[in-house]
Amino acid sequence: MTRVLFVCLGNICRSPTAHGVFRQMVDARGLSGRIEVDSCGTAHWHAGEAPDPRSTEEAARRGYRLGDLRARQVQPDDFARFDYILAMDLSNLADLQAVCPADFDGHLGLFLDFAADSDTDEVPDPYYGGGEGFTRVLDLVEAASEGLLDELDRRGHL
Ligand code: 4NP
Repeated sequence: MTRVLFVCLGNICRSPTAHGVFRQMVDARGLSGRIEVDSCGTAHWHAGEAPDPRSTEEAARRGYRLGDLRARQVQPDDFARFDYILAMDLSNLADLQAVCPADFDGHLGLFLDFAADSDTDEVPDPYYGGGEGFTRVLDLVEAASEGLLDELDRRGHL
């Protein structure tokens, strides 16, 4: 079993989008018994909340369901549970590196490192912007999710 954790700031926009998109792609490839998917935020502010309706609607337009997801904050145990901990932006990554145990032997890095031909390293925070930010999140998340699945396959982690 390979365990993948997506991390953003609030866990209501970017990482639940990645969670919902990636788990659906995993399911479509018949791999749900081999890959476990979760998401969380570096901040606690929105713990227990459903994803932002703007994320849920944008995802639904492309056939992804986010409605069952609930926000939570990252916890120390996550570094023992997950093999891949993937941050949406450099600020999230720095916050994770600051609490990552020295003996963590998984992969801690940027989600977009797995996106082929991406013009950016970071999934921009859409929370305070307009609808186009949420469309951009979906574009980047879909590309990186495909790339991540292909890379897990290449590494023999499926
Ligand atoms: P996310 O977006 O990190 O993609 O979930 C945000 C959600 C909430 C806030 C910031 C970013 N906030 O400031 O409450």
